[in-house]
Amino acid sequence: MIIGDRVRFRGVERSDIPRFVEWLNDPEVQDGIMIHHPMSQAEEEGWFDRMLTRPVDERVMGIEARDESAEGKPMTWVLIGTCAFDNIDWRVRSAEFGILIGDKQYWNRGYGTEAVRLLVKHGFTTLNLNLIFLHVFDTNPRAIRAYQKAGFTLDVRERQAEYRNGRFCDVLMMSISRQEYLSRGEVK
Ligand SMILES: CC(C)(COP(=O)(O)OP(=O)(O)OC[C@H]1O[C@@H](n2cnc3c(N)ncnc32)[C@H](O)[C@@H]1OP(=O)(O)O)[C@@H](O)C(=O)NCCC(=O)NCCS
Repeated sequence: MIIGDRVRFRGVERSDIPRFVEWLNDPEVQDGIMIHHPMSQAEEEGWFDRMLTRPVDERVMGIEARDESAEGKPMTWVLIGTCAFDNIDWRVRSAEFGILIGDKQYWNRGYGTEAVRLLVKHGFTTLNLNLIFLHVFDTNPRAIRAYQKAGFTLDVRERQAEYRNGRFCDVLMMSISRQEYLSRGEVK
């Protein structure tokens, strides 16, 4: 378990798959990610089985949020999304990451930024990475803003590299280096 203030990461379970299918078929969620085709439970089960064979540091983690309605009761957590590192290069010490908050009730409430910060902390202070990067569509201002808040800056704009909703859009590559992360003074 990787634990932050309002979010924590856990391993994903086969029983989470129906939630993933629900999220991945939501057009508003799909707008931000590399999926444009309806996703079936069977496909997601196949993805889940392949994911479990990946190196441990590239396995998908579930993002859980502290259930704030449970005040005064024993603390409970709810699954709101997923995140993972991918394409880890152990020689260069770089990795790409992806994040999805699938439960839209949790959008625009700072959970995405907090999850990005926690993943970045894990990348630099546990995995000993030197650079963390990501790709985001320029049509996704919510994600871009969350990444900027977590310290990412623009590296590259790939012009018209994606086609969404009847028009081409640019794909941005953003990154944060270990040095930039340390200079933000976020290590506790
Ligand atoms: C992208 C995502 C992770 C962001 O998480 P989140 O919890 O919604 O983000 P946060 O609340 O931490 O931050 C969002 C910021 O964007 C701002 N924002 C939201 N909509 C915006 C818009 N249309 N234009 C500009 N800024 C916008 C919010 O106001 C907030 O900034 P602020 O705190 O300065 O006010 C989440 O929305 C998500 O998973 N979406 C679906 C999948 C996806 O797009 N994944 C990313 C693929 S690269």
